[in-house]
Amino acid sequence: MGYETLNVDVTNHVAVIKLNRPDALNALNSKLLTELAKAMGQAQGNDKVRCIVLTGSDKAFAAGADIREMSEKNFVDVFMGDLFGPETDAILRVRKPIIAAVAGYALGGGCELAMMCDFIIAADTAKFGQPEINLGVVAGIGGTQRLTRAVGKAKSMDMHLTGRFMDAEEAERSGLVSRVVPAKKLMDEAMSAAAKIAEKSMITATAVKEAVNRSQEVGLSEGLLFEKRMFHALFATEDRAEGMSAFVEKREPQFRDK
Ligand code: HXC
Repeated sequence: MGYETLNVDVTNHVAVIKLNRPDALNALNSKLLTELAKAMGQAQGNDKVRCIVLTGSDKAFAAGADIREMSEKNFVDVFMGDLFGPETDAILRVRKPIIAAVAGYALGGGCELAMMCDFIIAADTAKFGQPEINLGVVAGIGGTQRLTRAVGKAKSMDMHLTGRFMDAEEAERSGLVSRVVPAKKLMDEAMSAAAKIAEKSMITATAVKEAVNRSQEVGLSEGLLFEKRMFHALFATEDRAEGMSAFVEKREPQFRDK
């Protein structure tokens, strides 16, 4: 399916969704977000896809929500229209693992979009920020919540209150990103991580995603109980039997998502 603001390519069980509004540093306008929600839904529904990589250009993952478009709106428009609500809900409904491969600017909604993914691999050129305060608003799709969980209150407050940018090295040190690689190697690194994930049982990968995401929602004892139940439940799968047999028999497992 053709998109105006995205390029989507499925190879070797990995869907690569590339934000593509080069003239506006991939600013998230309603067209792009609608298309992104659709592309994510299609990747979720496509049996060939086992992992998703979301990326932008060398210069920008996304420089935020489209300020020109937002500048035309009033409170009633955004409140009654639930600005960005349905699209972000659609992304969060995706049960397959999503890697954000970030080079250049990931600001405002761009940083929030990266944080909606399951983990972030950053190029050494990446710059993260929540500069919404400069526009008279706060983050709107998770920045105050997800950045705080990722890097702690002090750094999150600093980022949101000053609007400053964080480079890739600081982002890795603070726990916002899982790896930093030279910009030229960004897609190789993301594709190789995605290929590794694609080899696993989809049942187990889905369970991992649910259990880790649960840790962001509930207290420790509830989270531990959720994890234990998930661990026990996986003993019902053929892939669990295969994984353990393969280890004992000193061979590679052949998972069949059963
Ligand atoms: C609309 C944007 C944009 C944005 C960049 N552009 N960011 N258009 N919305 N968020 C456009 C510019 O207007 C310009 O278009 C072109 O992209 C290139 O940008 P420049 O500013 O010329 O590039 P540069 O000097 O390299 O500066 C890069 C930058 C700067 C530091 C990233 O563009 C910038 O500060 N952008 C805004 C970042 C921001 O405030 N993001 C948060 C948005 S609010 P023309 O046509 O002039 O060439 C937000 C709210 C989230 O995200 C809430 C829920 C989603």
